[in-house]
Amino acid sequence: MKRSRISARLREVKPSDIRRLFSLAQSLPGVISLGIGEPDSMPPPHVIGAAKRALDEGRTHYTPTAGIRELREALTRKAKRDYGLSYDPESEVVVTIGGTEAIFLAMLTLIDPHDEVLIPDPGFICYSPCTLMAEGVPVSMPISEENDFALDAETVMPLITEKSRVIIINSPSNPTGSVLSHDVLAGLAKLAVDCDLVVISDEVYEKVTYDGVKHHCLATFPGMRERTIVVNSFSKTYAMTGLRVGYALGPKELIAPMMLTHQFTTACVSGPAQHAAISALEGPQKFVGDMVQEFDRRRRFLHTRLNEIEGFRCGLPQGAFYIFASIQGFESSSTKFADYLLNKAKVVTVPGSVFGECGEGYLRFSYAAAYSEIEEALDRVKEAVKGFG
Ligand SMILES: Cc1ncc(COP(=O)(O)O)c(C=O)c1O
Repeated sequence: MKRSRISARLREVKPSDIRRLFSLAQSLPGVISLGIGEPDSMPPPHVIGAAKRALDEGRTHYTPTAGIRELREALTRKAKRDYGLSYDPESEVVVTIGGTEAIFLAMLTLIDPHDEVLIPDPGFICYSPCTLMAEGVPVSMPISEENDFALDAETVMPLITEKSRVIIINSPSNPTGSVLSHDVLAGLAKLAVDCDLVVISDEVYEKVTYDGVKHHCLATFPGMRERTIVVNSFSKTYAMTGLRVGYALGPKELIAPMMLTHQFTTACVSGPAQHAAISALEGPQKFVGDMVQEFDRRRRFLHTRLNEIEGFRCGLPQGAFYIFASIQGFESSSTKFADYLLNKAKVVTVPGSVFGECGEGYLRFSYAAAYSEIEEALDRVKEAVKGFG
C-alpha cells in the first residue's frame, strides 16, 4: 500500500495509555485494581429483573431511535423533579449507548473542521479523541490543585478565540473528584452566553457527591437551557456500566442532528437495557444513597492512608469516586510511577498524564473497589514506595 488507508482524522487519535496498563495488569496474578472507573456493586435486583423480564417477554426487537417512549418520559420527569427543567420527550431527549456515545454525537453535531473545543485538563479521556474524530481542535483548560481542581471563568476567558465553539464542563469530575460550586458554574455559564459557546455538560456523576455538597445542572443557569447539551448515564448512578445506557437532553435544534447520527451509526440502544433503565429510574432509589455512603467510607479511608505515606499528597474530593493524588514527592513521571506500583505492589492506578498534560505529577486512585481491597492495596503501596528511586 503506497498511501495510508486510514483517514487523517483517525491518524491523529491515539489509544489511551489506560489500555496498556489494564492489559499488563491482566497478565499479572494477584493484582488489585484501583484503576477502573466503575462501581464494584451489581445493579439493584429490580433493575436486573426488568432486563430479564424484557428478554423473557421477547422484547428483543429494535426500539425507536430516540429510545423507548416510556424511558424518555421517565427521563424528562427526572429532569423536572431534580432540576425543575422541562424537556419534550418527543424531541429533546436521545437515549444513547452510555454517556460516551452522547459525547461523540454532540461533537459531530457541533464541530466543523478546525473549530476549537475547550476541554478540562486533566479531564475524562474521551473528550480529546471525540474532538479529533469530529476534526475539531482540542484546547486544554488547565485545572490546578492550588485551585482545588476547580475550573473557573477567569482561567477560561483568555483561551477563547473566534474559533471557539464548544466548552466541556464535567462536574463532579473524573479524574479529580472536584464538584463545581453554584458560583463557579454561574461564572462559566455567563462566559458561555457572552462568548456564544455551546456547552457539553457531562453530569454522569451527578448523584455521587459527599458532605452535603449539591450538584447543579448547568442547563438551569440563565440563558443555558438553549445552549447546553446535558450528558448523563446510568453507568455510575445505578452501577450499570456494562448495560450501556446513557442519554442527552437539550434543545430540539441540537438533539435532532444528534438523533440523525445516532440513527445511522447505532439504530438504537438495546431494548432489555432500556427496560432496566426505566426500572432504575422509576424504582426505589435507596440503592443509590447506600452506594454513595459506602463510597464515602472508602473515600475517607483512602484519603487518610494516602496522606500518611510520605511522597503522596491529596485533598478530600467532594464527588465521583476518585482521588487525584500528587506524587511530586517521588520526583517521577506518573507513567513510570504507575508502572512501578503495578510491578512492585501489584496495584493498578492510572497515571495523571493520560488525562492531559496538566495531569502529570498525579496518580488517579479509584475507590470504587471493595474496602478490603483498598486496605490491602494501600498496605502494598506503602511498602513498595520505600524501595522507589
Ligand atoms: C466523566 C465521564 N463521562 C462519561 C463517562 C462515560 O460513561 P458511560 O459511557 O459508561 O456512560 C465516564 C466514564 O468513565 C466518565 O468518567
